[in-house]
Amino acid sequence: MALFSSSTKAIPASQAVPQHVAVIMDGNGRWAKKRLLPRVAGHQRGLESVRALVKSCVRLDIPYLTLFAFSSENWRRPADEVTFLMGLFLEALDREVKKLHEANVVLKLIGDRSPFNPLLQQKMLEAEQKTAANNGLTLSIAVNYGGRWDIVQAFNRLLQQQPTRATIEESDLTPFLAMAYAPEPDLFIRTGGETRISNFLLWQLAYTELYFTPTLWPDFDDAAFEQALQSYRQRERRFGRTSEQVHTSEPT
Ligand code: IPE
Ligand code: IPE
Ligand code: MG
Repeated sequence: MALFSSSTKAIPASQAVPQHVAVIMDGNGRWAKKRLLPRVAGHQRGLESVRALVKSCVRLDIPYLTLFAFSSENWRRPADEVTFLMGLFLEALDREVKKLHEANVVLKLIGDRSPFNPLLQQKMLEAEQKTAANNGLTLSIAVNYGGRWDIVQAFNRLLQQQPTRATIEESDLTPFLAMAYAPEPDLFIRTGGETRISNFLLWQLAYTELYFTPTLWPDFDDAAFEQALQSYRQRERRFGRTSEQVHTSEPT
């Protein structure tokens, strides 16, 4: 049984405050370059934007925040940048988990962790276990995540459980997706000016409101987040219906 309804099977309730915000934190390298700093200085600085956004979501009672930290294609970057990012994840886990726990945050890591070094994998597991019983914000960090990977791994796990299935339905697959524990995102934010999804939550973004801003991730502050939320509040979420139907709240 799925925990949350599907936007393609039932019309979700729209609320003024998004229940799930998903973010592609892009533009760290350009932020650093503008300041004649090495790219990795931008990643380091980006961590401060993460801290601020987590605090904002806690304050605004947004229950789910999902951040794209490392894509399945980011391995294509120069080895020293990849190594730096792995070190930064480790350092961030060491430094932040205690504070997140105190703030009642549930931390989840989504993505294929198998290529990560065993120490990092261990820390990720410990962080999840430590915060699992909390009931505040659910903060999901996507690391070595790819939307296609997610759909394929879900399908493979389904096949493992039910090898004789000839056909499947949407609802058979969704419990196996990496974010089965969360509703579909209401609001997607991408900083850094690119207007693409870059293999983020392909399945889950079916009816998500998309917001793109040229603001570089290290510059993404409370005011920038408020602008995104304001844009979200102005959207009319039709889910396939006409505007008239939305206004009369007629479901069919
Ligand atoms: C996003 O910033 C962070 C990661 C992908 C890890 P970038 O590093 O992609 O920054 P730009 O796009 O090069 O400016
Ligand atoms: C997307 O940013 C991935 C993350 C922010 C983790 P990229 O910078 O890797 O995306 P592309 O390569 O410009 O599409
Ligand atoms: Mg980028």
